[in-house]
Amino acid sequence: MSTRPPAAEPADLAPGAMRAALAAVEPRAAADPGTIRIVRAPGRVNLIGEHTDYNLGFVLPAAIDLEIRIAFVPTDDGRVELVSGATGERARFDLNTIGQRRGSWIDYVAGTAWALAEAGVAMRGLRGIIVSSLPTASGLSSSAALELASAWALADAPGGDVAPLALARICQRAENGYVGVNCGLMDQFASACGVAGASVLLDCRSLDFRSVALPLVTHTLVVIHTGSTRSLTTSQYNVRRAQCEAAAAALGAENPGVQSLRDVTPAMLPRMRDLVGDDVFRRSRHIVTENGRVVETIDALAAGDLAAVGRLWAASHASLRDDFEVVSPELDALVEIAATVPGVAAARMTGAGFGGCTINLVERGAVDALTDRVMADYPGRTGLMPRVYAVDAVAGAGFVTEG
Ligand code: GLA
Repeated sequence: MSTRPPAAEPADLAPGAMRAALAAVEPRAAADPGTIRIVRAPGRVNLIGEHTDYNLGFVLPAAIDLEIRIAFVPTDDGRVELVSGATGERARFDLNTIGQRRGSWIDYVAGTAWALAEAGVAMRGLRGIIVSSLPTASGLSSSAALELASAWALADAPGGDVAPLALARICQRAENGYVGVNCGLMDQFASACGVAGASVLLDCRSLDFRSVALPLVTHTLVVIHTGSTRSLTTSQYNVRRAQCEAAAAALGAENPGVQSLRDVTPAMLPRMRDLVGDDVFRRSRHIVTENGRVVETIDALAAGDLAAVGRLWAASHASLRDDFEVVSPELDALVEIAATVPGVAAARMTGAGFGGCTINLVERGAVDALTDRVMADYPGRTGLMPRVYAVDAVAGAGFVTEG
């Protein structure tokens, strides 16, 4: 969303730099630097399991080392005042009178406060500065990261009384009920519960989760941004979600065991086609087959079978393109180019779609070749400038203690 601050350089997120930046705009911080605290919340990539979260299926995201940090001094006056480190813009609200959304980045903070209050979590006021290395509107969950960083800064005892998964659900509530996006739990979950050096499998029905090892000795995760601005994302996202719910309701009307598309088996799909017509049938087929591909990807990773991972990610991408229809030509171009580079084990679009990024699992020695090929081929094909990020999988949100 263009209402959020642009991304900073990683050096701007260093604790010393953030303390100095806060002291420059907030006299209390300058007067008493010992009271400054810093929280962080990462963005995420999803390795596989796209649009399955709100259908109560499986997702496999990883939190990444592109993140949002807030340096702040706590206050007891109930006022929340934040400065965007990127633009210098100052925004504020009162915890006792949060009010309606304003159409600005402060909505993610105010919405989180609204949801924390609804959940009965005690909060404090603060004066702070936000700095982010996460590109916005890119499908890497900058809004979830801002919500989680806000939750850690606002809540009186984060991580103590409120466990990370509960914080993720509160932040999802902020997005659904205050910001107005009907998203599932994946983004907030990944930012809250990420595991360093691994991806995390979440069963979106039971909310059980566990880390899943990645072959990061030999390979690395590479995110490639299409450089295209997402358009119609929220409205198209909400349409897809409504189609999935309509499909589950249609089959559920004659089969009480079907509460969501999670309960639909491949054998039930022909009946689904009779009931809901071709478009909604294809949306359902994506969800049903994608849940299967998450499970198969877990098995393939455990077996070290990266050729199978590559086939599964390619099938996921094709299903998102042909059945779910959320793949832009730019995403397709990036995946096609990656497939021509030796050492790229797997590539697919990641996130909601309609623009944004691809995720690639790449041999460490092949990252430069992939970057060079994308830089050589993609701008000519699309007229756009891509951005390539080799990312690490990191732990979920919390306080920054170092330095
Ligand atoms: C967005 C949403 C998530 C999820 C993905 C698609 O990132 O916020 O809840 O639905 O799209 O997998």
